[in-house]
Amino acid sequence: MQQSIKNIRNILIYTASVSLISLVYFIYAYSSYPVPEERETFLSEVGEFFGKTGLGLLGFIYLRTVLKLMLGQGKLAQRLLPDYQPPVHSSALEQLLAWMNRTHVYFGIAAIAVMLLHISLMDISRYSHILFFPALLVLIVWQGLFGMFLAWRYSPAELKKFSHVVHAQFITGIAIGIFAFFGHILIDD
Ligand code: HEM
Ligand code: HEM
Repeated sequence: MQQSIKNIRNILIYTASVSLISLVYFIYAYSSYPVPEERETFLSEVGEFFGKTGLGLLGFIYLRTVLKLMLGQGKLAQRLLPDYQPPVHSSALEQLLAWMNRTHVYFGIAAIAVMLLHISLMDISRYSHILFFPALLVLIVWQGLFGMFLAWRYSPAELKKFSHVVHAQFITGIAIGIFAFFGHILIDD
């Protein structure tokens, strides 16, 4: 129990720290940079659609993590909550989770592709002076790259281990969520 409280505490401390640093930078950027003028072109409308789809796909991907925690399955659940009894026993949810496990790579590739499409249609060069956006681009490419190393069967064991640490945790996902949130309220007039 001690260990699981420590793990959850670490995740909360990480989330609070990233949020706080982002908030400080948000206030700085808000007072220093003018809001870029909104473009209402056909491409930017399509781009917004991809942004929403990307967000939806991210939500769907992390739903698998939530399901794993609810059903007490997987390393993450055992590490976070080693001595807890899963609150739910449902074969339908278990089947859903098995399907999500099988299809994660495809949804992952789709999420990365859709977010990169969103970014290129919104023309990142107009926003690259706001640090949240270049950081988002790096994080998305990073998540995709290490996902590929994890999925690729010829990856050396050491690389797989490292990829698991940096890909299959909350670290990148939490940062993507927080940076996208603050970045978008900065440019939304
Ligand atoms: C380098 C990264 C990014 C850039 C430059 C960017 C840029 C933009 C711009 C210019 C808009 C239109 C804003 C407006 O008109 O108010 C937008 C909308 C949107 N973006 Fe991004 N974006 C980036 C990354 C992301 C990511 C990673 C996500 C998803 C997790 C995302 C989700 C969305 C959503 C959902 C909208 C629609 C918001 C609305 O309709 O009010 N964006 N983005
Ligand atoms: C934005 C995109 C992605 C996100 C947010 C994401 C997130 C995650 C998370 C949270 C896990 C751990 C699952 C858990 O234990 O609950 C995971 C595992 C994994 N991911 Fe991704 N992923 C993405 C893209 C990809 C891509 C593009 C690939 C491969 C090309 C990939 C391959 C894998 C593999 C092989 C695992 C380990 C096995 C498994 O848990 O299924 N992921 N990913």
